[in-house]
Amino acid sequence: MTGLPGTPALELRGVSCTFVSKDAPGQRYTAVQGVDLTVGAGEFVSVVGPTGCGKSTLLNVAAGLLAPSTGEALVFGRRLDDRSAFPDGINTRAGYMFQADSLMPWRTALGNVMAGLEFRGAPDAKAVAEDWLRRVGLGGFGDRYPHQLSGGMRKRTSLAQTLALDPDIILMDEPFSALDIQTRQLMENEVLALWAGDGDERRAAPSSAPPPSGGGRAAAGGSRGRKAVLFITHDLDEAIAMSDRVVVMSAGPASRPIGEFAIDIPRPRDVAEVKVTPRFLELHAAIWAVLREEVLKGYEQQLKKAA
Ligand SMILES: Nc1ncnc2c1ncn2[C@@H]1O[C@H](COP(=O)(O)OP(=O)(O)O)[C@@H](O)[C@H]1O
Ligand SMILES: [Mg+2]
Repeated sequence: MTGLPGTPALELRGVSCTFVSKDAPGQRYTAVQGVDLTVGAGEFVSVVGPTGCGKSTLLNVAAGLLAPSTGEALVFGRRLDDRSAFPDGINTRAGYMFQADSLMPWRTALGNVMAGLEFRGAPDAKAVAEDWLRRVGLGGFGDRYPHQLSGGMRKRTSLAQTLALDPDIILMDEPFSALDIQTRQLMENEVLALWAGDGDERRAAPSSAPPPSGGGRAAAGGSRGRKAVLFITHDLDEAIAMSDRVVVMSAGPASRPIGEFAIDIPRPRDVAEVKVTPRFLELHAAIWAVLREEVLKGYEQQLKKAA
């Protein structure tokens, strides 16, 4: 089930999501309205917008965790509500990483990475999981429990957990926002390197472990090409440094994309280094010109809600 050439990995068409209002029960609240959003195969797209504008809502639609009130979500050209392609409506081509850790506290790091593989019945779950822990820099930490790991190490474990399942699409919802800035930059570079498929070359740590026999390993990088990434963040710097394209959402209600910017900064990128380049600053100024007013509107709304 690979897409046709040119078929986007992910496409939202005219997506609107209306909820029962949290603030005024009985009333309806339209979070996003008429959203068109495309992520090409192998493309890294970030969505930025003020808090509460509907970024997580869109990600949940893309994941198949939330059915849109109107509009449709397509994955490699197949509708998510097409039960012959997606029996539970869940986007089975995607892996997720959310802001909060999703690690099981009673399982070791290795056990956590293995869990999804075991669930799928992968015969070489342990070898694939060990390999992925090594690739995210946690070789030798497999026997630690989540509470014995730092925040950054738990994120690495989550990343290994997501990538070990070899998804074609990665959905990330502010995955690094709880990390300190240095750890965050390390993780961002890590994700870019793994996404580009040069994780092994860069790390090149000698390993005595035999290569796993499964397909999990080749999958990360080159064999099938890059994964499509939909990256949600409220941090414009992060969005520009990581992405091929940045989409700006308006403040809610009825939020929708109001700007789209191609990020023509050459790769490979070091997220800390690109931030001081003239092109980055230019792009930042151009995008901020669109985003600024929406952030102010969003901030006023938060204040009103709190009042
Ligand atoms: N299940 C829900 N029920 C009611 N309101 C919701 C629900 N999910 C999200 N919302 C509202 O929709 C808006 C967008 O939320 P969200 O997508 O989480 O924003 P963001 O991720 O951009 O901060 C918010 O006002 C939020 O309160
Ligand atoms: Mg959110």
